[in-house]
Amino acid sequence: MSESVEQAIWQALSSVKFPGLSRDIVSFGFVDRVAWADGTATVELVLSTHKTQEAQQLRDEVRRVVEGLEGVDQARVELQLTMPTSAAQQATARNPQLIPGVRNVVAVASGKGGVGKSTVAANLAVSLAQLGHKVGLLDADIYGPSVPTMFGIDERPRVDAQQRVQPFEKYGIKLMSLGFVVDADTPVIWRGPMVMKALEQLLGDVEWGELDYLICDFPPGTGDAQLTMSQRVPMAGAVIVTTPQDVALLDARKGLAMFRKVNVPVLGIVENMSSFVCPSCGTETAIFKQGGGERTATELRTDFLGRIPLDAEIVLGGDSGEPIVVAQPDGSHSEAFRRVAEAVVAAAERQAAARQPLTIV
Ligand SMILES: Nc1ncnc2c1ncn2[C@@H]1O[C@H](COP(=O)(O)OP(=O)(O)OP(=O)(O)O)[C@@H](O)[C@H]1O
Ligand SMILES: [Mg+2]
Repeated sequence: MSESVEQAIWQALSSVKFPGLSRDIVSFGFVDRVAWADGTATVELVLSTHKTQEAQQLRDEVRRVVEGLEGVDQARVELQLTMPTSAAQQATARNPQLIPGVRNVVAVASGKGGVGKSTVAANLAVSLAQLGHKVGLLDADIYGPSVPTMFGIDERPRVDAQQRVQPFEKYGIKLMSLGFVVDADTPVIWRGPMVMKALEQLLGDVEWGELDYLICDFPPGTGDAQLTMSQRVPMAGAVIVTTPQDVALLDARKGLAMFRKVNVPVLGIVENMSSFVCPSCGTETAIFKQGGGERTATELRTDFLGRIPLDAEIVLGGDSGEPIVVAQPDGSHSEAFRRVAEAVVAAAERQAAARQPLTIV
């Protein structure tokens, strides 16, 4: 009896939504436990939000829905609320085994395509390693993977006897990309649950080992991959990449809002293709407007993590399998990426220090 009532409770909860979100609370992973005995149902909700009022509303709604079910005389709904910065702990509690050795998962994302996410992700990852951290780079852009080209790897990863996938290692970092397992000529149409499955495999089946930072390069926009990821693994935060044009800044805001909505802290904004440095005379020209990234960061109360100039050398680095921070470790571009890496470390550490679980029952 208890099993079928519990099943009915899960079923009923999968039609309940958190106020303002379009997906149900079960698929978001907010329902931690359901139990039933002698007419009393117990539902434990774990969620991370600033919106305590909405959370209380949700608790009342869950109670109402569950008490309406056959076999339930009364429902006890326990609500464990954590501040958004503790998203990491929350996801760990839900899914402790997926990447147990990874301390900080950092998403590199943008609202708009082609602003340089993959370039920033690759150079940021290598810079962090150059600063002495243990680093992995996960190419989570399942629609258009770029890590194989940027790191010049065109073989398939090795799978050991335990079915664990060994990541590639190059320039001091561990690498994995869907591009390593999916044929370049195969049109990849991954949607909804398939995105989730592909990402879970890239995370869970890969032998990442102990890492200080796992940098994730996301597809543009605010789609399934970001949502899936934020629900499946503890995320230290997101780095939003933008270019200085108004339209890109507008999209950066959307990206930032999306991460905040799913309770992933935003570590800050990087302004890429910020200005053009003339290779022969060294004069710096702001082709697009300069300073937009910094202004947007201030406006949206997040950190400005630094700016990367527009330079053909950076494109060459991306195409030749040798990121610029490897090709010219002492150059000014490497210096710019190093500053961004240091700012990311500082922001991630601040976020970690700010994590304060708050429980309201
Ligand atoms: N600072 C820069 N200076 C010059 N070219 C750059 C710079 N950053 C990126 N690029 C170039 O711009 C193009 C797009 O960059 P990249 O692939 O990193 O963007 P993306 O945001 O990951 O794109 P997508 O949305 O398609 O994933 C590439 O050719 C890259 O080499
Ligand atoms: Mg990309």
